[in-house]
Amino acid sequence: MNREPLLMIPGPTNLPHAVREALGQPSIYHRDSEFAQLLDVCTEGLKPLFGTDSDVLILTSSSTGAMEAGVVNFLSPGDRVIAISSGKFGERLGEIAATFGAQVSWLTVEPGRAATPEVLTALAADRKPDAVLLVQNETSTGVCQDVAALAEVANSHGALVIVDAVSSLGGIPFEMDDWSVDVVIAGSQKALMLPPGLGFVAVSERAWQAVESAQMPRFYFDLQEAKKSARKGQTPYTPNVNMMVALAEVVALIQAEGLPNVYRRHHQMGEAARAAVQALDLALFADPQYASDVVTAVESPEGLDSTNLVKHIRDEHNILVSGGQGDLKGKIFRLGHLGCAGLTEMRRTIQAVASSLADLGYQCTVEAALDAIEEVAANA
Ligand SMILES: Cc1ncc(COP(=O)(O)O)c(C=O)c1O
Repeated sequence: MNREPLLMIPGPTNLPHAVREALGQPSIYHRDSEFAQLLDVCTEGLKPLFGTDSDVLILTSSSTGAMEAGVVNFLSPGDRVIAISSGKFGERLGEIAATFGAQVSWLTVEPGRAATPEVLTALAADRKPDAVLLVQNETSTGVCQDVAALAEVANSHGALVIVDAVSSLGGIPFEMDDWSVDVVIAGSQKALMLPPGLGFVAVSERAWQAVESAQMPRFYFDLQEAKKSARKGQTPYTPNVNMMVALAEVVALIQAEGLPNVYRRHHQMGEAARAAVQALDLALFADPQYASDVVTAVESPEGLDSTNLVKHIRDEHNILVSGGQGDLKGKIFRLGHLGCAGLTEMRRTIQAVASSLADLGYQCTVEAALDAIEEVAANA
């Protein structure tokens, strides 16, 4: 058995060799010109992933910190907010806004489905929101929402559009400027192939104007301070310099592969996961029209608690896949296929899923699933 576990969870993801090497480099001084150059490489290198020419700010925090920053800098207590609750992370974004005093109206989506522009249009006409909050890739259900269409509705009401792209950025295209999205939130440990610990917030010109009047309290996550420091090639507080050295490597890796190729590769992984799962006679949890290319949620077969399957795959095959969260605990399992995992890892994972199902008394034919992966590979 391989000693190192294969991470097929939706983050943290497997670390490329170049990233591990970079993480082992000596620390650098964050008030030195060397750091200013590094910050510039990182922020400029991230902009194409966000699809923006606006500011991208790098925070030393988990992605939830970046979510908080993405809310409290732009809203005031009492603001009317529509939060699209597509699952656990959509809920979290709305909860942050509520915690800081926003009046939150929930647009709750059936698990496994995405919000439609029609439903948002109806709710927005009634609530006249100051902001709409949503998640691009709802990691808890494997659903990818149509940000462009939802942002268009929000924009027609003059509402700010705040999007969590934590598990999609760098794996699924995002066009912040073209879609008129105001604030985009991301994190390091997903498609960006880094350990957890950096958060990112991209801010549109319109959002910078909103900051001027936004009254929610903030200190560590004050993005005006971050912007001021960034103009001097710095961050307000000591950043995780080692992670940023590794981020520069990630930027180089993505540039070398070419962003369109990175997206194509993730799409192929999504297709391969879906085809293989269906060939195992398992049901996909997400509505196929919104199926995510970075996370595939699978219904556990009748009578099998997915927690047991996940444990068996880990214990017997040294592969980590995720179970369900909240109400979906025991009912689904999730395959993360983002970052540097490729078809080789997908084959290994599908073999482990099939063999574990067989061990637990659920017959399935792995050959059909592997053939399905080969077919996707051949059609690439
Ligand atoms: C879509 C989404 N948003 C936010 C988060 C929170 O990230 P963190 O655990 O780094 O705070 C996650 C983590 O899985 C996520 O998938």
